[in-house]
Amino acid sequence: MSRDDSKRSNSIEKRHQTRLGGREESALSVSDIPDGMRPAPKKPSGRNPGPKRGTNVFLTGGTGFVGDLLIRKYLERTDCNLWVLSRPVGGVPANERILDRIDPREHHRIRILEGDLALAIDEDADDSEFSQGFTDTPGKEPFDPYMEMMEVVDEVFHNASYLGLRQDAGERQKCMDVNFEGTKRLINLMSTFKQEVRALFYTSTAFVHGRITEPDEFGEDDALTNGWLNPYEESKWKAEELIRNAGYPYRIFRPGMIAREPGVDILSSHTMYGVADVLESGYKSDRTSQSHGPIHIRVKGIADAAHNIILRSELVDMIFDIRASSHEMNHIYNTLNATNTRLEDVLYSILYNLNPKMTYEFVPDLDQSQGLNHMEALLERAVYPLYGGYLFKKSPEFRMNNVIEALGKDYLTDRITKIDRRLLTALMEDYFRTKRSI
Ligand SMILES: NC(=O)c1ccc[n+]([C@@H]2O[C@H](COP(=O)([O-])OP(=O)(O)OC[C@H]3O[C@@H](n4cnc5c(N)ncnc54)[C@H](OP(=O)(O)O)[C@@H]3O)[C@@H](O)[C@H]2O)c1
Repeated sequence: MSRDDSKRSNSIEKRHQTRLGGREESALSVSDIPDGMRPAPKKPSGRNPGPKRGTNVFLTGGTGFVGDLLIRKYLERTDCNLWVLSRPVGGVPANERILDRIDPREHHRIRILEGDLALAIDEDADDSEFSQGFTDTPGKEPFDPYMEMMEVVDEVFHNASYLGLRQDAGERQKCMDVNFEGTKRLINLMSTFKQEVRALFYTSTAFVHGRITEPDEFGEDDALTNGWLNPYEESKWKAEELIRNAGYPYRIFRPGMIAREPGVDILSSHTMYGVADVLESGYKSDRTSQSHGPIHIRVKGIADAAHNIILRSELVDMIFDIRASSHEMNHIYNTLNATNTRLEDVLYSILYNLNPKMTYEFVPDLDQSQGLNHMEALLERAVYPLYGGYLFKKSPEFRMNNVIEALGKDYLTDRITKIDRRLLTALMEDYFRTKRSI
């Protein structure tokens, strides 16, 4: 029995356990699959010829900051059909969360699969618990999207993630459930796919390098580790291990911090935007600073702590350029900016937009007995517990050999914008303005 055959028969047994829902599947023949969604004939494997036409892609995390653009790029740059995992949130159905953001002329290329990566992980749990898993998309002909998807999908883009930075047990559990166990679950699901999966893509993070010490550099293939700053970093590293060992041709992308390009209607609440949100809410609620003019803030950290920031649009283009390249599979890509940005510039960009007259200084620590102003107290309460480690951290020298091999040595300088204080301040202004208008 070939590896594929054994995978397939194994998959039939496992099908009921591994699907992201609990319903029994009905028999489905190829003629039931709508035109345009039928599997293309398999191609012989060999040196990576790049993606084939008519690929069917299973994508997670499509409602997020990065996933939103991944979907658009798939529609724009490829002729792939997409099978997008989504879940209902705040009364908005899973399908609306995706389709409402997409040009209706492209809807025929997208199927929504309702499901949650963190569910059905407990192997002892009752199946009924997962009945909110895959369900039919309301308003469409009744069909079993799971069955269709299983027949045709030959590429997977795993982008969903939970960003848990607190050190407590609950946060660790959630990170492991979504990022690690969720990845395991996805890989189990893939064993039910009938087509050969030609590419498994995974959005990881450059922060998997954790508490790096000497040598102070981080290559794409470097073994780790000296531990991690938080459960998010750890769970992402462990998920990378799962992807590398899953037996599918893979590519892992590792961005650092992702900045929002101006003029788009999507926000992020992570990294510098998480800090910006906290400081903005503190500034607005602080009547003293509003009425008595600008205040001076002492920030725990070092001005030269380095952060790697890349524009979302350039990151996603880089990912698609790597996807389209003939670079061999099974590599990790530090999809980063060639130039780091200083922490001081990040802080400046936020404070300047709150009040251009606000002043700051970096301090190694704060003697709380001397009293903290409103903003300093807020930093203590809401920022340091999450981001404290990053405020003192010098980013390692990142090596990007695989990116350069795939895209050429000039790509990073020609195509990736350096994020300096001026640009970051303009980007942050656009972020705050968009936030007010949404
Ligand atoms: N943003 C950054 O600066 C940054 C930096 C480095 C790496 N990354 C990586 O880039 C990827 C995308 O990040 P992002 O900024 O787009 O994050 P995001 O905006 O928080 O989006 C996360 C996505 O994951 C989905 N998700 C979370 N828990 C899930 C679950 N239990 N089941 C199914 N889906 C779930 C979310 O769905 P819901 O909308 O339903 O919650 C959402 O679509 C992640 O893998 C992240 O680790 C991001």
